Amino acid sequence: MSKNKNNKPIWSTRIKKNASNLFKKVGGSLPIDKRLFKEDIEGSIAHVEMLYKQKIINFRIKNKIIWGLKRIKNEIVKKKFNFNYDLEDIHMNIENRLFELIGDDAGYVHTARSRNDQVITDLKLWLKEATKKIIILLDNTNSNILNLAQKNIRTIMPGFTHLKNAQPLSLAHYLLAYVEMFKRDKKKFKNNLEFLDENPLGVGALSGTSFKIDRNYTTKKLKFKKPTNNSVDTISDRDFVLDFLYSSLACSLHISRIAEELIIWNSDAFNMITLNDKLVTGSSIMPQKKNPDPLEYLRGKTGIFIGNINSMISILKGLPLSYFKDLQDDKEIVFKTNDQLKISLSLLNDVIKNLIINKKSMLSLAGKGFTTATDLSDYIVRELGYPFRKAYIQTAKIINLAEKKNKKLHELELKEINQIEPKLTLNVYKILNLENSINSKKSYGGTSFENIKKMIKKAKKWQKKF
Ligand code: ARG
Repeated sequence: MSKNKNNKPIWSTRIKKNASNLFKKVGGSLPIDKRLFKEDIEGSIAHVEMLYKQKIINFRIKNKIIWGLKRIKNEIVKKKFNFNYDLEDIHMNIENRLFELIGDDAGYVHTARSRNDQVITDLKLWLKEATKKIIILLDNTNSNILNLAQKNIRTIMPGFTHLKNAQPLSLAHYLLAYVEMFKRDKKKFKNNLEFLDENPLGVGALSGTSFKIDRNYTTKKLKFKKPTNNSVDTISDRDFVLDFLYSSLACSLHISRIAEELIIWNSDAFNMITLNDKLVTGSSIMPQKKNPDPLEYLRGKTGIFIGNINSMISILKGLPLSYFKDLQDDKEIVFKTNDQLKISLSLLNDVIKNLIINKKSMLSLAGKGFTTATDLSDYIVRELGYPFRKAYIQTAKIINLAEKKNKKLHELELKEINQIEPKLTLNVYKILNLENSINSKKSYGGTSFENIKKMIKKAKKWQKKF
């Protein structure tokens, strides 16, 4: 086995010159992939255990290597490890230190392995854990939203389309829309585990290995579900990275839409919510200001997620199969995305827990803009047997009259309504009531109070089960 002398790259026997200073500085991935040290060591331990089981290395060497690897892990955890930035990455750093600790026997660790399968194994192991942590955060988010919904079943808000008042809604129902969005995110991240559970270790540089390795054994040891099928595809594949980036992007898009909505609701014009002082910032000149900066931060950060996935897609486009240096950047993109998503979800959780609902002004806004007009049309269809289009026109005429008289629909007198539609009776006023309007939407998935109660229960159950 070749010796790793004087901290020189392992290929220094073959490549006589040092790398150009600039490339040495920029070409390495150590500052980024340091984060993979635990996974790298875990993967190496599984690998040497398999090599021993397959009689490719002996008992003494296996134990020596595992001892050294555990010690290295300890050194890194305790911040006593001397990272050598002349060595390209975490894999080379660990191998180099293993040589220092146990001598030439360290050279057996890389039997039947390449950094190509090693780095994908590390990244998949890391992503599996990261995915599980994000799922926990998504569960927290939904629990917080469900708590707020529970308290606001009878809080009436205007539902908008085109930002114009449309139909009254229960705030809880609206919040349950957010729950559905995050449920889909959770499902996406969970689904990603299927491909993350395929073990890349053992495909070597790109063609497999002539050693009689047992990939099922390392699969079990590393808690993957099955080995990948094709060595070339395994080395080339970064679909699992794209899946993670897309799931994160979709989640961040949801966060940005919620943030934007809350910014609008918090504006002085809408005044539907107030942000806790913990979640606003002031102005350097306007003493009265309380600005929703954290929400704007959340909305803006979605740009970063879009950039991240675009970077990865651009790297992969047209890249021939197997390993190329281009792929080294996958880790930086994944880590940045992961870190930002965790921050964004945690910040959103803070916002939700500290939201102050201005129930009175929500209610008063819900009563503006003839939001029960559709209810009136529906009522006319039911009571008078009209086709919907005729009822729609009659309702539009009643609205025109109310607008002319500067009244809300329920403020019109019956005789005024009867000028347009003589057959309507006093019962019509029940239809124009906001609560009744909401409660009449009993169709599956609608905003009726009964539906909401059921949906809150259902969402809680789903969260526990799924
Ligand atoms: N530092 C490399 C990366 O992170 C490790 C893989 C190296 N493989 C290779 N054939 N140079 O992508």
